[in-house]
Amino acid sequence: MADPWLEAYNFAIEIAKKAGEIRRASESEIKISTKSSTVDLVTATDVRVEKIIIGALKEKFGDDVFIGEESASKKGACILTDEPTWIIDPVDGTTNFVHGFPFVAVSIAFAVNKELEFGVVYSCFEDKLYKGRKGQGAYCDEESIQVSDNKDIKKSVIISEFGTDRDRSKVKKICSTMERILLIPVHGIRGTGTAATNMCMVARGSVEAFFEIGIHCWDVAAGAVIVQEAGGVVCDVNGGPFDLMSRRMMCANHADIANRVIKEIEIFPSDRDDHL
Ligand code: IPD
Repeated sequence: MADPWLEAYNFAIEIAKKAGEIRRASESEIKISTKSSTVDLVTATDVRVEKIIIGALKEKFGDDVFIGEESASKKGACILTDEPTWIIDPVDGTTNFVHGFPFVAVSIAFAVNKELEFGVVYSCFEDKLYKGRKGQGAYCDEESIQVSDNKDIKKSVIISEFGTDRDRSKVKKICSTMERILLIPVHGIRGTGTAATNMCMVARGSVEAFFEIGIHCWDVAAGAVIVQEAGGVVCDVNGGPFDLMSRRMMCANHADIANRVIKEIEIFPSDRDDHL
């Protein structure tokens, strides 16, 4: 049977790279506004790059559904249906982008029947293209990547982020979780400031796990395919099944590592992207 999504996959790779180049060219004209909080930033570049990506995809795949970070934040709820759906973050790591911290990614995922078919993450400053397709492995550029084979939590590096919510009780829980994980003890805690890149760090075996509460579907959709195709696991922060719209995500090289980290996570409430 002909491969139904190959054209879409190849086009996603092409457009992610192009979008990354556009971003590099526009660093001098950063115009900042805020969204859900004073630290949840958006720049004119996010909006422009999203329009370029969605515009190009719509020309080719006009009947598909599009969930993009910047268009979604204006519309409210994002509902994932069975229709072929593109889930796009034009600039993942907007705070990094604004401050010149060199980790920024373009993230494009594609789902059909509510299942992720492929994910593409272009890490612009590193100039690395990570990609994964259901059942076909994960790659960094043309090199196959695999998660780390380390199952010893005490020899692990874990990624988490502080996110963009400054509610005092949530910040306390995040800090307390970080402290508990550090004291396991682990080798270290890191964070690149982009969820998509963090997930690629798990996929390529540079760290054992990454989790966050408060991320959005466009931050993690592409990375979820890449981690799974690199041999890792993606689940909820309570160990249950991964729910793309839940704004909670844990991914790891192995279930043992995921479950050990989960023991230390102080979960706090977050809205869903679909507002269900
Ligand atoms: C953010 C990044 C960051 C994560 C935040 C996200 P954005 O995405 O992925 O790492 O901590 O929760 O909102 O806003 O830069 O696309």
